[in-house]
Amino acid sequence: MEGEAGQLPVEDTSLDKAVSVQVYEYLNDIAAAVAEAHRCLRTGGLLVVGDIHFDSLVWYSDDPARMDRMTKAWDKHFVGRDVPALLPPVLRDVGFTVESVTPITICDNELRPDGLANMMITLMKRFAESNKLVSDQEAKAWADEQRSLAAKGRFFFSLTHFVISGRKS
Ligand SMILES: C[S@@+](CC[C@H](N)C(=O)[O-])C[C@H]1O[C@@H](n2cnc3c(N)ncnc32)[C@H](O)[C@@H]1O
Repeated sequence: MEGEAGQLPVEDTSLDKAVSVQVYEYLNDIAAAVAEAHRCLRTGGLLVVGDIHFDSLVWYSDDPARMDRMTKAWDKHFVGRDVPALLPPVLRDVGFTVESVTPITICDNELRPDGLANMMITLMKRFAESNKLVSDQEAKAWADEQRSLAAKGRFFFSLTHFVISGRKS
């Protein structure tokens, strides 16, 4: 079924578990989505939300000012860069007991073809270019630098995804 996070096509108290992975960072109203999950869960049901806190990004560049421009451009593709920090009080306000907040850090010192950093290089470059947030030359130079650093064994990337679980009391 497809539906809005703030208006799920699901009956009241019909779910044992609800899981959201990197969706809440795109929502204007996180509290409405949490309240909607609460409505759909049975008493004792579990809501599990995974989202990245983008302040946790550590990404090496010989040109930190350009890296800053690229990450600020990427910030414009979502609503919230800090969802994990906002979520625990929202869960409590809606009627969940926060059971755990678990950080999962993805830390690479090699540019893995199937890794998160490689995907982000492609997506960030495309987003910055197509929305004219930096020049095409700058976006290309930024992406090229990461591949060049990796070829020299100087690549470093770290980002933390948080898994937050709340139980409906
Ligand atoms: C980064 S993707 C994550 C997809 C998937 N959960 C995963 O981990 O691969 C973000 C997803 O959020 C969904 N999304 C964005 N705004 C939404 C909304 N208001 N209600 C429901 N889903 C939404 C998009 O359709 C997209 O599939």
